[in-house]
Amino acid sequence: MIIKELKLRNFRNFKNCHISFIPNINIITGLNGQGKTNLLESLVFLSTTKSHRVNEDQKMIRINTEFSNIDCLYNDGIDYKIGAVIHQKGKSLLINKQYISKSSEFIGLLNVILFSPSDINIFNDSPRVRRKLMDLEITKVNKKYVNCLNNYQKLLKERNITLKNEKIDSIYLNTLEDQMIDNQKYIIEERIKFIENINENINKYFKKINGEDLNIKIEYLSCVDCKENNLDELLKDMYISNFERDRYTQLTNSGIHRDDLLFKINNQNVNDYASQGQRRVVIMSFKLSLIEYIKKVTKKIPVLLLDDVLSELDIKRQTNLLNCIEDEIQTIITTSVLSNNLRNLNKNISIKEIKDGIIIN
Ligand SMILES: Nc1ncnc2c1ncn2[C@@H]1O[C@H](COP(=O)(O)OP(=O)(O)OP(=O)(O)O)[C@@H](O)[C@H]1O
Ligand SMILES: [Mg+2]
Repeated sequence: MIIKELKLRNFRNFKNCHISFIPNINIITGLNGQGKTNLLESLVFLSTTKSHRVNEDQKMIRINTEFSNIDCLYNDGIDYKIGAVIHQKGKSLLINKQYISKSSEFIGLLNVILFSPSDINIFNDSPRVRRKLMDLEITKVNKKYVNCLNNYQKLLKERNITLKNEKIDSIYLNTLEDQMIDNQKYIIEERIKFIENINENINKYFKKINGEDLNIKIEYLSCVDCKENNLDELLKDMYISNFERDRYTQLTNSGIHRDDLLFKINNQNVNDYASQGQRRVVIMSFKLSLIEYIKKVTKKIPVLLLDDVLSELDIKRQTNLLNCIEDEIQTIITTSVLSNNLRNLNKNISIKEIKDGIIIN
């Protein structure tokens, strides 16, 4: 997948910007606060229909304007034009100039993998953040997963309402639980496949970038023991054994909405054990493994976005990381300091500078 052009109108600090990209390494330089992350954010928005920085879409509309436009031309075997309009009351999504009503048809068409400095917080963030990271990536490549997640959320809400009733209709509760089990089974199976895929590659990348032969592994902490085959029974038992507690708290205490991921380094929790540099490389290796997962599932190669992450690595690790990125992966790198390491990269590179939301060369 190759992004050819991006047009931004009234998006963040961009008034009117048109930028083209080469299929290889694209470096965007600029001082702090000039729009480097904003530019990448617009691509993340087209990939996921959400910002990676803010929950409220309207924050991305340029101050004192009514709406933002993001338009992108990319090639995925053939050329596609996708676009988004963010307005005060919501957003509209377009594929080849046609408005589409279901965001699930839009998500993942343009597939980008972003690595930004704040990703390192993933290890001490709440389980919700790690779950979201996993769900977002599976959602981009699997529509059935999106439907199951949406169904599950609706059923969960309904079960929680039912638990608050003075008298519970047990037939209704059982019906809800059976439907929740059906959706959860699929979600758990896909999460297992996702983690297995990541685990197949994460060590390889960690070793290549960090040089150390440490054992990196992600464990899926699920509501039931996933090693067992009888997920139906296990989930049913979960509802039975948790019923009294659920009734007392008027909440569903167990289920895929509470699952988590545990990152381990040499069998220790990364959060308790790893250095800052090692954490960075673990998450970077995770992102590179994600590219392999997407490649395997969709047969397409996502675009890699590196937001100011090189400056946080030492020269050796910077070089190792850049060497890990295969030529077929289009990459957009933002940096405030254009190091010799980047300038002299033995790859096809384009360097552009950004100033106050304007590409100046
Ligand atoms: N809705 C908005 N309207 C206008 N300007 C905005 C809006 N949101 C953010 N900005 C401006 O965008 C700029 C920040 O852009 P961005 O985060 O992309 O900077 P950056 O180049 O990545 O900088 P750094 O190197 O510090 O990370 C700030 O000057 C901020 O005031
Ligand atoms: Mg930035």
